[in-house]
Amino acid sequence: MNSSPWWKEATIYQIYPRSFFDSQGDGEGDLPGVTSQLDYVKSLGVDAIWLSPFYTSPNKDGGYDVANPRDVDPRFGNLEDARELITQAHKRNLRVIADIVPNHFSDQHEWFQAALKSKRGSKERERFHFFDAHADGTPPNNWISIFGGPSWTQVEDGQFYLHLFDSTQPDLNWENPEVNADFEKTLRFWIDLGVDGFRIDVAHGLIKEDILTNHPDPQGLSIALRLDVAMDSEVRNALLLTVPYFDREGVHEVYRKWRKLFDSYGEREIMAVAEAWVHPPVNATRYVRADELHQVFNFDLLTAEFDADVLFDVVEQSISLNATVNALPTWALSNHDSPRVASRIGDEQARALALFVFGLPGSAYVFAGQELGLPDGQLQDSDRQDPTFFRTNGAIKGRDGARVPLPWSGDTTPFGFSTGKPWLPISQSWKDFTIENELGDPKSSLHLYRNALQLRKEFLVGAGGITWIESSQHGQKGDSLLSYIRGAITVVMNLSDSAKECHAAGKLIIVSGGTVDARDGKKLIPAYSTAWFLT
Ligand code: NOJ
Repeated sequence: MNSSPWWKEATIYQIYPRSFFDSQGDGEGDLPGVTSQLDYVKSLGVDAIWLSPFYTSPNKDGGYDVANPRDVDPRFGNLEDARELITQAHKRNLRVIADIVPNHFSDQHEWFQAALKSKRGSKERERFHFFDAHADGTPPNNWISIFGGPSWTQVEDGQFYLHLFDSTQPDLNWENPEVNADFEKTLRFWIDLGVDGFRIDVAHGLIKEDILTNHPDPQGLSIALRLDVAMDSEVRNALLLTVPYFDREGVHEVYRKWRKLFDSYGEREIMAVAEAWVHPPVNATRYVRADELHQVFNFDLLTAEFDADVLFDVVEQSISLNATVNALPTWALSNHDSPRVASRIGDEQARALALFVFGLPGSAYVFAGQELGLPDGQLQDSDRQDPTFFRTNGAIKGRDGARVPLPWSGDTTPFGFSTGKPWLPISQSWKDFTIENELGDPKSSLHLYRNALQLRKEFLVGAGGITWIESSQHGQKGDSLLSYIRGAITVVMNLSDSAKECHAAGKLIIVSGGTVDARDGKKLIPAYSTAWFLT
C-alpha cells in the first residue's frame, strides 16, 4: 500500500546531526557523517529524515540559535555537503526535512548586531522586540524565559530585548514585513537546494500580543512549557491555557502565505510540520487547515503515562480532532527535547508503545537512537551543555541526556561514533546497544523497528481509520488491554505486568517482546507487549 502525497503517512526519522556520526574525528557529528550512514537509515524502512539545525550558529542552544539561516556551520561541513546529503538521500528514495527557526535568531546574526549598534526606535531595532525599562529600571514585564531566568536582557542604552529562550536568542518581530520576506528567502533557498519539507520550530510563537502585560505565575508557566520536566498534568494543563505569547491568531496568516509558497513548487509536494504545543488541544488543528501547514506535532505521547485510559484518550482525541480538518495525526515518543521513551516508561513498555503507534493512521516520527531502545545518557553536571542547566543554576538538568551520540560498533566507548572525544560522553554500559550488536540479535529493538516499519508499509499505510475493540474478550479501554483493528490488522497492547488473554482473530505477524501463546482460539499476550494479528 502507499500513501499520496508522500508525507501523509510517512515514517520520519529525526537526526540530531551533532550526535549521529562524526566523519572528521572532532567529536561532533556532521553532514558527511549523516550521508555516510544513509544506507543504515534506509534499512530502517523510514521514508524521510528530519535534520535538526546545522546552520551557522554559535551553538548556544544546539544550533537553534541561528546566525545565518542560509549557510552551513563549519562544524557540520558546508553547503556542498548539504547538497550531497540531499542528493544521496534522494537516490535512496528518502525525503529530507530541514528545521527552520523563525521565532528567533542568534544574537550573532547580522541583524541583531546591527540592532545593538543602532538607536532606540531605529529600523534595525524594529526587527526584534526592544522596549524601554520601567521607570524603576525593571524589565518591560515579568515573563520568565522557557530556559529559566528573565525573558529580557538589557543593552547598553538601557533598552531591553525579548527572548523567550536564551538571552542569545532574541525573538523576531513578525509584525515587521522584512522578517517574513527574509524567511521566505530562506525557505526558497533550501527548497532550491533540494529539501522536501520543513519542521517549523516554535511555530506557534511568532506573533506576540500584549507584550507589556505581566503573567500571574511566570515561573510556573516556564516550567510547564518544558517537556523534560515532569509535572502534574492538571496543573500543567491549567498553566498552558494561560500562555500569553503563543498561539495568537496572526501566526495563521504567516502559514497561509507559506502554504502558497510551498504549493508553488507543485509536484515536489513540499510539506511542513509545525512544532506547536498549544492548548486546548483543539487549537492544534488550526495549524493543519487545508490552506495552512501539512502536519502538527502531537506532544501528548512525550509525557503520557503508560496507562490504558490515558493512551486511549490521547490517541482517540488526536485522531478525532485532526479529522475535523481532514488531517491525519502525528505520533512521536521521543525527541531531542524530552527524556528518551525507554528511560521515561521502561524498555519493554517503550517497545510495546512503539509497535502500538506504528499501526495508527498518520505519520510516525522516530528519534535517532529510539530504534535501538537507547536510554538517556547518564551525565555529570560538568558534561552538560543545555542552556537550561545554566539558566536555572543546575535546578533543571536539561536535555543533554537525550542527545548523547549514537553507539555504532565495537566494544569500547565511543563505539565508532567518532575517532575523537565525543561532545557528550557515551557510557561504556551502552555496549549492548550498538547498531552492530543489535543487527546481530534478532530479538533486538532494532530488528523490531525494522520489521514493524516494513509491515506498516505493507499492510497499514493508507488503510484508513481504526476501530477500537471493546468487548469482554478483548478488554476495554481502561483495563490492561488496549486494542484496535485497522485494515487487515488487529493490534493488541497489554499494558500490565502479567500476560493477558484475548480473542484476537488472525495470525500473529509481530510481537514487541516475549512469546504469544495461542491455544483454543485464545491468545496470551505477554506482559508489557504489543502484538499484531493479520486476518
Ligand atoms: C524547540 C526546539 O526543539 C528546542 O530544541 C529549542 O531549544 C527551542 N525550540 C528553541 O528554539
